[in-house]
Amino acid sequence: MIRPAAQVASEQTFNNEQIGNCPDPAGLIAHSPKIRLDVLERLRGQSILSSAQFDKPLLCELLKLAAYLQLKKFPVAHALEDRIMAAAFFEPSTRTRLSFESAMLHLGGKTISVSDAKTTGVAKGESLRDIGQMFNSYADVVAVRHTEQSAVQELCEYLRIPLLNGGNGSDEHPSQAIADWYALLKWRPEIAFGKLPEKFRLNIGIIGTPGNMRTVKSFLMLALLFHDNIDHITIFSEMADPLGEEIREMTNANPISINFSQDLKQSLEYLDVIYMNAIAFLGDGYRFFGDAFTLNSSSKLKDDTVILHPLARGDELDISLDNTQHNLYFNQADGAVWVRQALLLTVFGSVPKVVPDELIA
Ligand code: CP
Repeated sequence: MIRPAAQVASEQTFNNEQIGNCPDPAGLIAHSPKIRLDVLERLRGQSILSSAQFDKPLLCELLKLAAYLQLKKFPVAHALEDRIMAAAFFEPSTRTRLSFESAMLHLGGKTISVSDAKTTGVAKGESLRDIGQMFNSYADVVAVRHTEQSAVQELCEYLRIPLLNGGNGSDEHPSQAIADWYALLKWRPEIAFGKLPEKFRLNIGIIGTPGNMRTVKSFLMLALLFHDNIDHITIFSEMADPLGEEIREMTNANPISINFSQDLKQSLEYLDVIYMNAIAFLGDGYRFFGDAFTLNSSSKLKDDTVILHPLARGDELDISLDNTQHNLYFNQADGAVWVRQALLLTVFGSVPKVVPDELIA
């Protein structure tokens, strides 16, 4: 018998506690509590297009700000009340668009939104040049997702406001990578600071192809910043050349040892972090690689291994892992709203408005 919705709702008790691994943001600010404004100032008025724009100090200062925001250490409800963000998503999204909008609303700003290209002038063949002019008129910042790699760069040519790249084709997804590292550094803050003895350095497994998966690529680019404390990165992919030329040049110039493997099961015993994604852009569309490398609660993971996944997931990541401490992926998605608040405050140059003087370096 199907019970009426009203009856089901009246029987539920709501508990909005996150499941999985929920590390305390305080660890990120314990080592160096003051925010370096001079470092964050580098992003004021800038578009955020690529993980390549971040060095370790800039990333760490941004993540410290995100940690303060998550811990609600100072009021921010009016910080951006005179600002409007356009969330222009020409490709589907659950997390990125909603967390950008939620971030803006947390800061007292306003949002206008495109969630489907077909509801815009694109359906009539409107050019990015003209769409860009409209963003200039209607908003102070624009978060964009587009199927075409070249679209964000092209839009920037016509914009007088900053653009935040929410994913451009198979190229990059920098704010996702920042959220990935926010989750990881909350879990192991010591990775961000100094050089650890060898036995404490991370072994990271990446299931995916950095050469044509934007989340994996942007994550790996930021991983290279932590070469002092990452021992190995192993790429698990069915593709002959998972890195591609651009990423290969970056990894060749970095001290982290990069390995390739097709044997995930044999490798599980030494991986501290597993970053997985199964959606790749190949040719002219998205393809799913769900079968070759899968994880579930029976997988022989180390007790303290954590799993990151940018989501949406397919069969590669079984829901039986959701209620385990291996699940850092929900925290990764949850943290995105604090990371995107930190990004918005920084790009608008509004950090001094919210961070108390005693916390400014
Ligand atoms: N992580 C991510 O980009 O998710 P969405 O596609 O839902 O935005």
